[in-house]
Amino acid sequence: MTQQMPSNRLTYQVNPATSLRGDLHVPGDKSISHRAIMLASLATGETSITGFLAGADCLATLHAFRAMGVKIAGPHAGKVVVQGVGIHGLQAPKQALDLGNAGTAMRLLLGLLVAQRFDSELIGDASLSKRPMGRVLQPLTLMGAKIAANDDFPPLQVHGGQTLTGIEYTLPVASAQVKSAILLAGLYAKNTTTIHEPAATRDHTERMLTTFGCPVKRDGQSLTLQPADCLKAQALTVPGDISSAAFFLVGASIAPGSDITIQQVGLNPTRAGVVTLLQLMGADITIQNECLLGNEPVADIRVRAAQLHGITIPRAQIPLAIDEFPTLFIAAACAEGRTELRGARELRVKESDRLQVMATGLQRLGIDVELFDNGIIIHGCASQQTVFNGGQVDSHGDHRIAMAFAMASLRAKGAITISDCHNVATSFPNFVNLAQQVGLNIETAKDKQ
Ligand code: S3P
Repeated sequence: MTQQMPSNRLTYQVNPATSLRGDLHVPGDKSISHRAIMLASLATGETSITGFLAGADCLATLHAFRAMGVKIAGPHAGKVVVQGVGIHGLQAPKQALDLGNAGTAMRLLLGLLVAQRFDSELIGDASLSKRPMGRVLQPLTLMGAKIAANDDFPPLQVHGGQTLTGIEYTLPVASAQVKSAILLAGLYAKNTTTIHEPAATRDHTERMLTTFGCPVKRDGQSLTLQPADCLKAQALTVPGDISSAAFFLVGASIAPGSDITIQQVGLNPTRAGVVTLLQLMGADITIQNECLLGNEPVADIRVRAAQLHGITIPRAQIPLAIDEFPTLFIAAACAEGRTELRGARELRVKESDRLQVMATGLQRLGIDVELFDNGIIIHGCASQQTVFNGGQVDSHGDHRIAMAFAMASLRAKGAITISDCHNVATSFPNFVNLAQQVGLNIETAKDKQ
């Protein structure tokens, strides 16, 4: 059974605006918030999490652990307190665990659930039910997991009570979700788990496992984990999400006269591709007040408007900016010359087919693009003050596409109407308010259906 589409779908009506100015905090990091709930639940003792992202995706993870008997207080003003049940303390959920739109929750949880004594079922919304799970089913099955899927798609039925064996596994795709699912299953395996990554991907799971007392050893692109008996409860603080900050980095870069500072943003090198790529395009970005928040680097990011130029995206940067391409495409449309992305087929299996949906939306707004199976070329219109025509674009329920097109209003001739925006609540619940505060001319309305 999959969730019905919500009937209260949202439209953004975004009128042209001139610049972004001011200081802002973006909400907590989504990837880190998911992992914090998971490891806190398995730890022995009480873990407090400050800066938790109370977006629908991370709340789905939180509810899943409550359904497995973990006592979790909050979130209250970003604070969550988890009474960890210990690594073998989860209980069988009474019904299927519904993870909504959250691919990270489903893939990571699967890694944990295959190692439990009980059976479980994972379901999601219409978008999640179309996302490929074979990439996690394959290595977990090699470890001894028993999972039934709907032709590699959710719903997933997990048959618990299996003994898992550690594997040595080379990831066929650079995916932090797959890597993390294997590591979480590896906590319960009889022996060592070794993973070889084809390219660096976000390493929050490795960092957080180390924080909880279970070190993951890295040697170049290879990782090794020993099985664990116990995770130690912690006090965690989640940095601001660079993936949410990215919309404002692009907005301020493309809108003349802009000057914003985003405080306490996670700048883990495996997530900072958007900053590197914008700097390669000529963005005026200053990193200030760098420090460590627990095991994660953070900093304030100041961005002033700059004339961007098109680039060829270096392939090694793709996994480091994997969620930021919708907004980077908006930057590319405002740049001088063409921007070329290749080797990015993964973008077709995100919350939407991001290559197709972005190409269609950009064309609707008058941008010249060439679409390929694994990438796109965007012809920038830097010489025009107004780069985008007004018009209607469909975000296809993809939060990052909705927010990316909202930023296009900073260089648009007329109003941009963006439909199907309800899923912005999965990662950035206060996006509209924050965007209004720094200068975006954005209002919400119910979708006409
Ligand atoms: C995530 C990993 C990435 C990313 C997703 C979050 C994570 O997915 O796109 O939004 O938290 O591990 P892949 O592992 O599929 O690249």
